[in-house]
Amino acid sequence: MIATIHGFEEAAGPARRLADLLQIDCRIVEVRRFPDGESLVRVAATERMAILYRSLDRPNEKLVELMLAAAALRDRGAGRVILVAPYLGYMRQDMAFHPGEAVSQQVVGKLLAAHFDALVTVDPHLHRVATLAEVVPGIDAVAVSAAETLAGMLRADTAPDTILVGPDMESRPWVEAVAAPLGFRVLVGEKQRLGDRQVELAVPGIEAVRGRPVVLIDDLISSGGTLLRCADLLRAAGATRIEAVATHCLAGTEDLAHLAAVGITRIRSTDTIAGPTVSIAIAPVLGAALARLESRLYDFRQP
Ligand code: R5P
Repeated sequence: MIATIHGFEEAAGPARRLADLLQIDCRIVEVRRFPDGESLVRVAATERMAILYRSLDRPNEKLVELMLAAAALRDRGAGRVILVAPYLGYMRQDMAFHPGEAVSQQVVGKLLAAHFDALVTVDPHLHRVATLAEVVPGIDAVAVSAAETLAGMLRADTAPDTILVGPDMESRPWVEAVAAPLGFRVLVGEKQRLGDRQVELAVPGIEAVRGRPVVLIDDLISSGGTLLRCADLLRAAGATRIEAVATHCLAGTEDLAHLAAVGITRIRSTDTIAGPTVSIAIAPVLGAALARLESRLYDFRQP
């Protein structure tokens, strides 16, 4: 591949892993914050295909810098600027749940589509929208799945009588995709969200977990409220051990401590978001997606 990866400082590790895999250069995007809170962004020299690498957790502070970096890369001669955002924030507000609310998914999606030629992300939380292409209209949109990566991780050290539990209907595609190659039994809960951190949950068939280990599977751990309630129910139903595996983990130290306190003995996630639960690199999945995308974008290389 002839391209350069430009990673922001906080994503330097995963960005370099991806660059090593693709055997291309990785350069760090320099950001200087002025006393008034504005950012000065400086990018290094680039190949004509520039891959900007930044996850969009804490998106409010990151989005403007992304736009500035994309513009600077074009000024330095990039013919195509691809955003690799392993975690794509603002996907859950996909409708106005109450009058007057912004539909953040649409607003942020259109903003990204206006500044990038392609977007590559991992397990975006698309619920009422069928494809990522609808979120970022008019550009190449690639959503890859971490399910195989997570299954590979579980294959190494998970007892054969383990039951995989998806806490809610939205988790069904992930839990089924992870379970399929391993042959584990699956249960899927029914969830009602009562507040930012509070959910009510029921798991039909939960009696099956008595005397067996359980792994909770979800695309995203945010406040941890969903896993907390689910773990309560599973413990009460007699599960012998409870672990959790997710593509993305946004939970902070305090929320992770609450999850440990309710008996979740281990939480593992991919490196789409930095943190103490990171157990496996997503670079191979992203690398394969970029290789496929490159062949589609090939013709831009000639000036
Ligand atoms: C929601 O449908 C997602 O799949 C996750 O279950 C949810 O975002 C987790 O959020 P929290 O950790 O705050 O309960």
